[in-house]
Amino acid sequence: MRDCPDWYYLLREFETLYRQGSAGGSRSIRSHRKRVREAVSAVLESNPEMAMRAPETKPVTAHLGRALDIGERGVMQGLARALSRVSDQLTWEYGYEKVSPSLARKYAYCEVMGPNGPVQTGRLIIGFVLFAPNTTYPQHSHVEIEESYVSVAGAWSENDAAVYAPGSLILNRAGDEHRITTGEQQPCLLAYAWSGPETRLRLPEMKLTPPRQQKARREGR
Ligand SMILES: [Fe+2]
Repeated sequence: MRDCPDWYYLLREFETLYRQGSAGGSRSIRSHRKRVREAVSAVLESNPEMAMRAPETKPVTAHLGRALDIGERGVMQGLARALSRVSDQLTWEYGYEKVSPSLARKYAYCEVMGPNGPVQTGRLIIGFVLFAPNTTYPQHSHVEIEESYVSVAGAWSENDAAVYAPGSLILNRAGDEHRITTGEQQPCLLAYAWSGPETRLRLPEMKLTPPRQQKARREGR
């Protein structure tokens, strides 16, 4: 990895992001931040082999330039600039076996570190998810995986609970149902971290919650 300094510095930015700043008084967020930064530090220390994959774009990546421009003007400029250095090497994917045609035009994610590389580790997955303006990312949850999002660019909301600005961290604990909507005018770029058992990180089984179960689960039934 040290022979690919742009990737090394991108991971450094992640480590800084999860080290600095406040957990807002939340014990769960504090321990999640600690787990993420310790895993990233350990990977940086171990200097793993890179497992580069063929770069891939998706329709939404036409919005990446704009998302990076917005990110570089705000509090997340360090991460946005580091990501722009590797933006032509990213493998954008959907993750789901079935993606609706409308979501396929407006969403994709890329991994930076994890069992599938490009920086290889079984301890943690980190990456970015990109949404076009005016997107609804349907309700879902993750089995045994704890997920945090940090806004890099654009405004978005989760479960209609608040509007999150660049720099905000949102934690979804394992099993928490979540649904995302994004602002009308600008794309939205989020950094994410997934922490959980290695076997689960290798096979996360991404599934959207079936529509008839969505309301029931939101209401805790
Ligand atoms: Fe999620």
